[in-house]
Amino acid sequence: MPQKLHIKTFGCQMNEYDSARMAGLLADSCGMAVTDCAEEADVLLLNTCSVREKAQEKVFSQLGRWREWKLARPSLVIGVGGCVASQEGGQILARAPFVDLVFGPQTYHRLPQMLKTARATRRAAVDVSFPEIEKFDCLPPARVDGARAFVSIMEGCSKYCTFCVVPYTRGEEFSRPFDDVVTEIVDLAAQGVREVTLLGQNVNGYRGATAAGGVMDFGTLLYYVAEVDGIERIRYTTSHPADFTDTLVRAYADLPQLASHLHLPVQSGSERILFLMKRRYSVERYREIISAVRNHRPGLSLTSDFIVGFPGESEDDFAATLNLVDEMQFDQSFSFLYSPRPGTPAAQLPDEVPPAVKKDRLARLQQKLSANALAFNRALVGARQRVLVDGVSSRDRRRLCGRTTHNKVVNFAGPPSLSGRFVDVTITEARPNSLLGELTIPDTATTVSAPATTVPAAA
Ligand code: SAM
Ligand code: F3S
Repeated sequence: MPQKLHIKTFGCQMNEYDSARMAGLLADSCGMAVTDCAEEADVLLLNTCSVREKAQEKVFSQLGRWREWKLARPSLVIGVGGCVASQEGGQILARAPFVDLVFGPQTYHRLPQMLKTARATRRAAVDVSFPEIEKFDCLPPARVDGARAFVSIMEGCSKYCTFCVVPYTRGEEFSRPFDDVVTEIVDLAAQGVREVTLLGQNVNGYRGATAAGGVMDFGTLLYYVAEVDGIERIRYTTSHPADFTDTLVRAYADLPQLASHLHLPVQSGSERILFLMKRRYSVERYREIISAVRNHRPGLSLTSDFIVGFPGESEDDFAATLNLVDEMQFDQSFSFLYSPRPGTPAAQLPDEVPPAVKKDRLARLQQKLSANALAFNRALVGARQRVLVDGVSSRDRRRLCGRTTHNKVVNFAGPPSLSGRFVDVTITEARPNSLLGELTIPDTATTVSAPATTVPAAA
């Protein structure tokens, strides 16, 4: 019987990706099988994020629940990884001495060895160092999720925005070598992957070493990825306005594979707040980038990250953010209440804005963003969209679901055999967070309606 592994993930796409790679690594090296049922696992891992929420508290309350199981079953291995582990290090053991493994975002590739050591010595193994590129070298190839795959191209961040813990928890930016990235994507395409998402905290800060001794920038990397046979759609996240080069803008004109969706965090529409955040760009520069990209890509969906209630944010500062949302027509975006992070410069700033005012601002911003998203979706009704089919919709088994170039979820009737393929779908109805459509049969231009019976979910 293979040992069973359960990973509980808190946080962002990077953490989800890291968890998938940990599972792949432990499957390959120790023959472990992932289980969704935590109670039956032999190894329990907590992959944590400390960007916003009270992550430490969440971690210890989860550990409290697992402690009972460990008491009943001492062979159970419990590990804590990710950003909270990186921040707290060995301190985790002081509060939770029953934990066996503590590993940072840059050391999870050492998990098999740490697991072996902890089991052999019956002592906790702690490793929260930043051994940089070694992590990429030791990992098995990315796991494929149907026709889509996530490819990590860089790690860490050196921007040091005053509110953010990422540079401290994930370390400084470092890029994966160019040839490794392209080789991985060629392999993925050979396995049937049609869409890749290039991942990193700051992808357009990418500076990958080439085999010829040069350095490859992100914009140029996109041109190479677009050359890979079989890759029909390219996405990336997250990019930073300060590193948005002319080559990257140009790519929107030259590369039809590049999705018509840009997620570019702006954080605030106030120059004063951007300066206090040390974001390294002006609102004006942000406008310039978007207008240049939209020149090449009319109809682009623009999404962003916003922080509301940064220390000292005035009503005027906030009004500037709302104005920018109107002007840029941001589609559905992420918006967060500012959360002071220990050890960051912004946590030292005086902050007199009452919490109720901050919450009210967040609600106003979110209302605007949702209205924009619905308007964007409504404008798609009647349009024919190229959709990459993920499989049978988990919400409605009579339908398939997939994504448009704008990263919009579309549900439509069709045979499950279309999973993993690109199809044309005519949009028939807009909802706040998704679209309904009808499959267009290319030769006859007829459409397919939903069957009366339920089809089984795709594996
Ligand atoms: N690299 C990205 C960028 O260019 O800004 C951001 C990565 S960060 C992990 C994701 C988002 O979390 C940020 O864009 C920001 O909106 C939000 N965030 C980070 N620190 C925060 C804090 N202390 N309070 C609230 N939101 C925060
Ligand atoms: Fe954080 Fe700013 Fe980097 S938001 S991830 S320090 S670009």
